[in-house]
Amino acid sequence: MAITTSYRTRSDAVPLRSFKAKGRPSAIAGVGVHAPEKVITNLDLEKMMDTSDKWITERTGIRRRHIAEPGTTTFELATGAARSALKAAGIAAKDLDMILVGTSSPDGPFPSVACRVQNELDAPGAVAWDTLAACTSFVYALSIADSFIATERADTVLVVGAEVLSRMLDYSDRGTAVIFGDGAGAAVVRAAPKGAGFLSWCLGSDGRGYAQVTCGNIEKGAYAAKDAQPFIDMVGPDVFKFAVDIFIRQATEVCQTAGVALDDIDLWVPHQANFRIIDAAARRIGLSMERVAVNIDEYGNTSSASIPLALEEAVRKGRVKSGDHVLLAGFGSGLTWGATLMKWA
Ligand code: UT7
Repeated sequence: MAITTSYRTRSDAVPLRSFKAKGRPSAIAGVGVHAPEKVITNLDLEKMMDTSDKWITERTGIRRRHIAEPGTTTFELATGAARSALKAAGIAAKDLDMILVGTSSPDGPFPSVACRVQNELDAPGAVAWDTLAACTSFVYALSIADSFIATERADTVLVVGAEVLSRMLDYSDRGTAVIFGDGAGAAVVRAAPKGAGFLSWCLGSDGRGYAQVTCGNIEKGAYAAKDAQPFIDMVGPDVFKFAVDIFIRQATEVCQTAGVALDDIDLWVPHQANFRIIDAAARRIGLSMERVAVNIDEYGNTSSASIPLALEEAVRKGRVKSGDHVLLAGFGSGLTWGATLMKWA
């Protein structure tokens, strides 16, 4: 069970920090994904634990999730997504200045997944490191890419979100085992023409909520112990309420900071944690589902990979065109949250 603390997760308990993008603009030049082939459906889970397709579908919107074969590494999924993003952007790996991997499920404490990806891609000119902010990792890493490009310390940055969460799942805990899946998504970020690219950012953390979503015995530092069982644990209903609030507040904040009306959002790509969270927030923001990217039915919650997995699908399906206002928004363990509004290049 999750550790209980007197802290109750409340998004209104924290001030939001937002920033207008400054300096040289940067934009996403190409996106790619890589998901394991193996799929576990809700019906498969019915045979493994006391759950039902009806409960999972109605309470979360999830129907299937891609699950890596045992022994699959996070860096393999990350590399697959990276290759496909580089191809989409028409960029050679040797031209990368930086590789950032957002992940909560690295293959070990070190080396970083990013260094393994660098090795696989043969990108010797890049500096590579991982960013850990749970499900917000991809947005945090994107903001680092934007900052380095803005200050002309990098021209081309690869940002990846990759997870093998299935190895952190306790299949006797139906509250978490049905929710998470594996996968990876990536984006190439490059200097952009003025007026295009990232317009504003809202990033934040509230460590008082550290116990709301955890993995392993964090109070004893048992993560690396031989007998440790580093399983994901969470206070689902509390996180649910926090998530709806923080989605709404972040969307409002990044739009105000960029001087763009909420109604002018063409596509919202939210972290795919629960369809009901996305639906509740979209209604209160005033966005119809035609303007929201949702693929949680196919992948479940893939943590840092969920936003690029949903963004890539939207791009592939022609739902994003040049000049569109695209909002990415995430939240996760920590607690952490992050959003950016961009003008698609
Ligand atoms: O990205 C990481 C951040 N995490 C999240 O964003 C998670 C946010 N929270 C959620 O998405 C939801 O809280 C969950 C999907 C995790 C749970 O849904 P819920 O509607 O909040 O359910 P609950 O935990 O309040 O449980 C309601 C009932 C309980 O039964 P009783 O006590 O009412 O008899 C649970 O035991 O549903 C039961 N239940 C299940 N039943 C069938 C919980 N999980 C399952 C299950 N199958 N898999």
